[in-house]
Order: sequence, then structure tokens, then C-alpha cells
Amino acid sequence: MNDKRVTFVSKIGIVAAAAGSAVGLGNIWRFPSQTADGGGALFILVYLGCILFFGIPLMVSEFMIGRAARANTAGAFHKLAPGTPWKWVGRLGVLTGFVILGFYMVVCGWTLDYFFQSLSGSLHRVTDFSENFNNLLYSPLRQIGWMILFTLLTAFFILSGVKKGIEQSSKIMMPLLFLLLIILAVRSVLLEGSAQGLNFLFKPDLAQVKPTLFLDAMGQAFFSLSIGMGCMITYGSYFNNNTHFLKTAVHVSLLDTLVAILAGVIIFPSAFALTTNPGTVVDELVAGGPGLLFITLPGLFNQMPASMVWATLFFCLLSLAALTSTISLMEVVTVYIHEEYRISRRKSTLLVTAAVVMLGTISSISAPFFQLLDIASAKIMLPIGGLFISLFVGWYLDKGMVYAELTNEGTLQFSTGFLKTYIFLLRYVAPVAMLAIFIYGLAG
Ligand code: TRP
Repeated sequence: MNDKRVTFVSKIGIVAAAAGSAVGLGNIWRFPSQTADGGGALFILVYLGCILFFGIPLMVSEFMIGRAARANTAGAFHKLAPGTPWKWVGRLGVLTGFVILGFYMVVCGWTLDYFFQSLSGSLHRVTDFSENFNNLLYSPLRQIGWMILFTLLTAFFILSGVKKGIEQSSKIMMPLLFLLLIILAVRSVLLEGSAQGLNFLFKPDLAQVKPTLFLDAMGQAFFSLSIGMGCMITYGSYFNNNTHFLKTAVHVSLLDTLVAILAGVIIFPSAFALTTNPGTVVDELVAGGPGLLFITLPGLFNQMPASMVWATLFFCLLSLAALTSTISLMEVVTVYIHEEYRISRRKSTLLVTAAVVMLGTISSISAPFFQLLDIASAKIMLPIGGLFISLFVGWYLDKGMVYAELTNEGTLQFSTGFLKTYIFLLRYVAPVAMLAIFIYGLAG
């Protein structure tokens, strides 16, 4: 074990860093549009099940792989399983990170655009919010410009080592974002006609079941928790020997899920309350697709006094939450290229930046390409990654070592039953269930 690798010291720092990666556009932008598409409450129920049965155990597994190997995502499999094909799981993870960046950065660009629209006051004057969002979608240059700016911003933090600073500030930013979300949720629920939105969110309608529901929910759970590609392996590699994996994973997942649910409580009641055609609101929600957040939310701001201030603050904090996620994604890809191909960190960052800008440009111009990257990563690559990570810890790693890692060499007390259940879950339950959901979802 290479103990010279820096380790996080403060506990809040550990949770903050991992939560900074997890909480992002996945919670506030992707979760509501997936929930709309999945028919509301039923989707959320399945989603919660996925967090509990796959999400938390897999996050613990990634932490474990990272700390046991003290290496980057691809290097970790090299180190723990030298000379085996397991290294391909790491490589797949790096590729997944790259694919995610290729469309995520575009949404980060939208967030920046809306931040400046709020700041300049132009958002405040808009009357038709769908049209306003479509204007952005149909101006490739505007989208590409913001996307490049966001990518450069991410690259700057990766290169400058101010990353520590960003982690520090996310300790203030995240609670602030959380507070703002609560205020917006309360405002949204208090709108006249919001009850239907709450029903849609919390009252399952079994008629809504469709074959892809489970895969959609599982993909969203992986995406939101940043698992299935080794992002959390990288974080685990910085944990110290006393880091309580299970507690950390539970805290991060709770926080992440709470933010997602809050985003839902903001979007849906507003969407139902502010619509002009109550009959077609569900169709509208689904049609809103990836634009849902950017179409519904400005309407809510306009219902509030000092709407500009709220909107500016919101899109600023959302950009920052997105930044801590893009940093975590780009870090995985950059460190891999830096360490595996032995080129300097600087060159590696430039290379990755150029490649991400290229993918991002295509996603800005072509909505089908954007969707392809989104679906390929969340519904195919992350589930495959998650499946193999679960098999790796469940079957390949030595059981004694897994126990030692989980209990921090015996200093934490878990009942034998608990440890056995964890292994059983990773060996049989999670892989079989994930595989079934995957096949069923792709066929559907
Ligand atoms: N979880 C982040 C979000 O919700 C996105 C993200 C960061 C991610 N790192 C990841 C997704 C690794 C999958 C894998 O916005």
C-alpha cells in the first residue's frame, strides 16, 4: 500500500467530496425528466429500491477497490487482479466517463446560459418559456460557446490544483443549494393547483408500468450516485484507513436522494399549477424531456418576489454543483491517460479537454447524438460497469480482505450476519437482478 498518496483527513471533507461528485445535474435536471417519462411515483419507488439494493452496496464496493489499491480507476484493477481481463472494467469506466462528459457538458452550458439570462434580467422578461429554451437549442453557437467555457473551467480546476479550494467551498455551497431548494419546494407546493403535481410524484399509478421502467430507474440511480464507472474508486483511493465506508455511502446516498426528491417537489407541483392546458400536462412534461428544468423552473421564479435574485442564485449554485461533478468525471479520464500512457498531467488534461469539446460540439448540434450518449452511458455502460464491479468484489476479491476493508481491519463492529448478507448480495442478488433488469429493459 502506498501511504504517501494523500488522504482526506476530516470526515466532513470525505462526505463533501463524494457528495460533490454525486450531487449535480443528474439530480436536478435528469431526475425530474426521467421521472416525468417514467410516469411519476412508480418510477420514484423503483428508483429508491435501486439506490438501496444496488446503489449503496456498489458505492461501498467502489470505495473498497479504491482504498485497497490506492490507484486510479483502471490502475486499481491492474493492481488487485494483475494479468487478468479485469483491467477492462477499469477501461470501460474511463470510456464511460468520457461519454458522459460528451453530453453533460452541454447541459452545464445551458446552466451557465441561464445563469447569465437571470443575471442580465432577460429571463425575467420572457413570457413563453418553452420558446425561450428552444431558442437556445436552435442556436448551436451559443450552446457550443457555453459548453466550451464550462469545459475549460473544469480543466482549469483539474490543472491548477485549486481543486482543494473547490472542495472547501462546496462545503458552503452545498448547504446553500440545499436551503434554496427547500425554499423553492415550499413555494412550489404553495402554488394553487399544486396538489396534482404532488399526486403525480407520490401516488403510484400501476397503469404506468412499462418494460423499460426498471432499467431507466436503475440507470438513473447509478448516474446520480456516480457509480458504475469507478468515479468512487478514485475517491476511495484518497480515503484514510479509518474511513467508515458504509456510513459514508449511506450519507452520500441519502443526501443525493434528498436533493433529487426536492428537485421533483419543485418541478412537478409548479408544472401542474402553472400550466395553461391542465388536460395535457403529463404529455407536456414528457415532451419537455431534457428541457423540463429550464422550461418549468423560470415560471416558478416569476411567481416569486425578486424573481431575478432567486433565479440568479439558483443557476449559480447549480453551475457550481455541476462543476464538482464534471471535475470528478474529468479527473478519472485525465489521471488514467496521465498514468497509463505516461504523458504529463498537463498534456493529458489538454487532450481530454479537446476530445470532450469535440463530443460536446456534436451533441450541441445533434439532439439524437446527445440522446445516444445519454442512453449509452446511463442505460448500458454504467449498468455493465456496476455488474462487473459487483462480481469483482463478490467473487474475485479475497473474502478475508473484503471483511478487513469493510471493518477497517476489525476496528468497526459488524455482525457476521451483516457481512455475509453483503457478500451474498454482491455475489448473487445484485448481479442476477441487474442482469435481468438490463436484458428486460433493452428488449423492451
Ligand atoms: N452524479 C453526477 C450527477 O448526478 C454525475 C456524475 C459525476 C457521474 N461522476 C459520475 C455519473 C460518474 C456517473 C458516473 O450529476
